[in-house]
Amino acid sequence: MTTSIPVVVAGASGKTGREVGKAIAHAPDMELVGAIAAHYAGSALKDLWSEPVSVILQRNLSDIDAPYAVLVDFTERHSSYQRVTEAIVRGWDIVVGTTGFSADERGSIDSLVRQYHVGAVMIANFSLGAWVMEQLAQQASRYFKKAEVLEAHTDTKKDKPSGTAARMAQILAESWEINAVDIPVHSIRLPGMVAHQAVVFGTMGQTLTMRHDVHDRTAYAQGVLAAVRKVSGFRGRVVYDLGEIIDPV
Ligand SMILES: NC(=O)c1ccc[n+]([C@@H]2O[C@H](COP(=O)([O-])OP(=O)(O)OC[C@H]3O[C@@H](n4cnc5c(N)ncnc54)[C@H](OP(=O)(O)O)[C@@H]3O)[C@@H](O)[C@H]2O)c1
Repeated sequence: MTTSIPVVVAGASGKTGREVGKAIAHAPDMELVGAIAAHYAGSALKDLWSEPVSVILQRNLSDIDAPYAVLVDFTERHSSYQRVTEAIVRGWDIVVGTTGFSADERGSIDSLVRQYHVGAVMIANFSLGAWVMEQLAQQASRYFKKAEVLEAHTDTKKDKPSGTAARMAQILAESWEINAVDIPVHSIRLPGMVAHQAVVFGTMGQTLTMRHDVHDRTAYAQGVLAAVRKVSGFRGRVVYDLGEIIDPV
């Protein structure tokens, strides 16, 4: 008999954590053992999600007494950094979707993951389309020598540019052996947007545009479920690339 993977979702009341959390609650090989939020702490998740789950939202990770769980985090950078480090010290594996960490924060999470020998997945974009676009952009960058990145998100998104756009600029910069800051990234924040990205390559007499649109946040669930299933196999290192997690069909 296989036991299910215990999971705690931080940000379960948020736009993304809600969709990802519901997918976890429905996964036959996972068990939602806890959930974390800020304003909604103390609320019953079943009322918030209209799903038959018996979990009360907590404010802090220390309020959850599970001996082990995978922490799935879609919150905001500052509280996420504290929570993620606390989870690592408890020996939990982590799957982090929250974006906007500083280089120092990423570095110290990386060191703690090695020190405590836990599994970690930190991916700026868990959607399949964004990852495929990275592979295609890498190919195009062998033939085009200039590109600009456009990203558009809903106006409540806190970080700018998006983690996905920053990663795309980094990928192109590495390919062209230049600094990522030399690749222009344009950001739009407007109500009505979800998550959209285009990379426009240009050369003599022509442009090539690649575009990816997330129409709703269920787009992230497949990648997160795969990460939860695989994270314990990555003990001692942080996985930043969705390609290590998703399998081709
Ligand atoms: N990697 C990816 O594929 C991906 C995809 C989409 C989004 N993201 C990232 O995920 C994060 C969340 O995005 P979102 O659009 O879902 O945001 P959101 O709708 O604003 O949700 C934020 C969530 O975090 C909780 N929260 C905020 N501060 C907290 C604190 N101090 N302690 C505990 N919980 C706290 C909120 O709780 P309350 O509702 O109770 O206040 C809410 O549940 C962002 O960093 C975003 O960039 C990543």
